[in-house]
This record gives sequence, structure tokens and C-alpha cells, in this order.
Amino acid sequence: MELHWQLLTFIVCLQSLRSAGFILQEERKCTYGRIEKLLRIRCYDLDLKEVPQNLKTSVEVLDLSHNRIRKLKSGSFQKYTDIKFLMLYDNMILSVEVGTFEPLTSLQEIDLSSNGLTTIPLELFQLPRLRNLYIDSNELTSLNLQALEKPVRAPLEYLNIANCELQDLPNLGILPKLWQLNASMNPLRDFKIDSLANLCHLQVIDLTKSQLSQCGCQQVTNHLMMLGASPKFVPVCMEALDIRECPLPYNRTIHSATFASCQTTVELAETRSFWLFGAGCFGGVCFVLLVVIFCVVHCRRKRAQRRLRNVQRRKPFVISPKNAINNRQPEDEPLHCDIARK
Ligand SMILES: *[C@@H]1O[C@H](CO)[C@@H](O)[C@H](O)[C@H]1NC(C)=O
Ligand SMILES: *[C@@H]1O[C@H](CO)[C@@H](O)[C@H](O)[C@H]1NC(C)=O
Repeated sequence: MELHWQLLTFIVCLQSLRSAGFILQEERKCTYGRIEKLLRIRCYDLDLKEVPQNLKTSVEVLDLSHNRIRKLKSGSFQKYTDIKFLMLYDNMILSVEVGTFEPLTSLQEIDLSSNGLTTIPLELFQLPRLRNLYIDSNELTSLNLQALEKPVRAPLEYLNIANCELQDLPNLGILPKLWQLNASMNPLRDFKIDSLANLCHLQVIDLTKSQLSQCGCQQVTNHLMMLGASPKFVPVCMEALDIRECPLPYNRTIHSATFASCQTTVELAETRSFWLFGAGCFGGVCFVLLVVIFCVVHCRRKRAQRRLRNVQRRKPFVISPKNAINNRQPEDEPLHCDIARK
């Protein structure tokens, strides 16, 4: 009984010491590793309040999710310009200083979901390599895209703006490479079918729980079918509306000038890359040819030189029966033709 009491007091003391901070909890640090040859640093769930500045600067995958970061500052990522994948989900980010993401010119994917953002930092759309943007579960109530430079520079392929209190799809201008858009769980009361004209390569759009109107639902489905995209995540339209009530959407989507310009952007890029590829191939072939020619010429010259050297090195050959008989060294005999002397 006595022992039990002692043990209990000991535990109580230990607990109170720990809660008072006297006993340091084992220090938790970011862990280093590699993922597909990329340098990955995981600072997952460490109660961080800021982006740590003492990490290896060559980090390529940085996981800062599940922390308590409230603010991103313009210097937060200044050192880490090699980041390709950045996870910041499940923090408390309320504000992002201008210039925070600007140094991240290698960034391909960023996950800012489940934060307290009220707008999307516009500089994200100008990052030259950004393909995937997750910003779902924020309250983008003050999203204002007036200052957005269009067309955006980021080659966005995936965009998740689910659960963001949006009343309309944000107008980001043409996004020729976007193939998946998740706008589910938004009260899209102001949705207009025209906004899909910007997305000429859309394959999947999630509009579940988005409070689409009957006509909106029908038009989106029509549009997707015409585009050959999947209406799998579009809510089932409850009643078929007459064309007079709900016109076919095509002259506002697929047959619009915006859609055409979206397509030409892609075609232009494709032709450009085709020509670049062609030029590259041509250059490559030229280079190989040059190398071959150089080798042939060089080898031939070398061979000729070697032959010449061999000829020079070879002992002077004198056709002389006398030489053959006496086996004399040619040094003893000046170079001449014995026969001529006779
Ligand atoms: C869209 O995003 C929500 C929230 O992140 C997710 O639950 C849902 O699975 C996503 N939809 C698709 C089609 O990926
Ligand atoms: C689009 O087509 C409908 C008929 O389907 C027509 O009433 C409407 O005027 C057209 N709109 C434009 C802008 O051409």
C-alpha cells in the first residue's frame, strides 16, 4: 500500500514537472529522406509556427503540413528555391506576404488546403512550372482576380478549389492544360456555363454538392458529353429541361472564340515544341555528323602521320646485296643506293 502511494506521488510529480516544461519532451526534428531521388524534408506535425530557416537549402520536397503556421512571409522560402513539391495543408495560414512564392520557380505542386486563406495569392498563377494547385477547404470569400495577369503563366493541370465558399468558378483566363477541376462543395449560385470555355482540355470536373441550377447541371452535362469528358462527378440532373428554357451551351463553350483561342494556345505550344524538337533533332544529327566527320578526318590524319612516322622510323632500306650479305647497320652506310654507285 505504502509503495503504491509513493509510486502515485512520483507519477503526479513527474506529470506536473512535465507540464511545467521542466522535463524536455524528446526534441522533434524534421526528418530527411529521398523520394524518387528528390531530397525530401518532413516537418510534419511539429507544432511549427513559422517556416524553419535552418533546413538544407537544396530541399526539393518540403512537407510542412499539420503545423501551426499562421503567416507566410516574403522571406519564408527565399533560401529554398529548389522546392518542387510543397505541402502546407492543415495549418492556420491566414495571410501570405507579397513575394512569398516568387522565388519558387521550380515549384510544380503546392498544397494549401485546410487553412484560413480568404484569397488565392495571385503570384502562384505566374510560377512557370506550377502544375498542381490544392487550395480546397479555405474560405475564399474575398477572392478578387481583378489584378490577375492573363493568360496566367503557370501551366496548371490540376486545380482543387473544393469547399471554399465560392459562388462562381474563378475566372483565371484560359488554362489550356487544365484537365481536372474540383469545385465540389461550393455554393455555385452564380455559375455560368461560359466559364468552361477557358478549359479546352478538361477531362474531369467535380461539381458535387455545388448547388448547381437545373439548367446549369444540364448544360454542364451537355458540354462535357460534347467535349468527350467525364460527367461522372456532375450531379445527376433531376429533370430534362426544354431547349427554350435551357439552351444548348455550345455556342458559349465549344463554339466560342475563347475556346478556339485556348486550343490555338495549345496547338501553338505543340507546334513550337514540334519545331523545337525538330530543330533539336536536326542539331543533334548535325552534331553527330560533325563528330563523325571530325573523327574520320582526324583518324585518317593520324593514320597518315603514323604511317609517315613508321616510314621515318623504319631503318633506311637499301637494296643492296652487299648489305644483305654483310648485315651492316645502316648508320654505317650513308643513305644511298648502292646500285647507283656501281
Ligand atoms: C474533390 O475534393 C474533395 C475535397 O478535397 C475530395 O473529397 C474529393 O474526393 C475530390 N474529388 C475528386 C473527383 O477527386
Ligand atoms: C446561341 O445559340 C442559341 C440557340 O441555340 C441562340 O438563341 C443564341 O442567340 C446564340 N447565342 C449567340 C451568342 O450566338
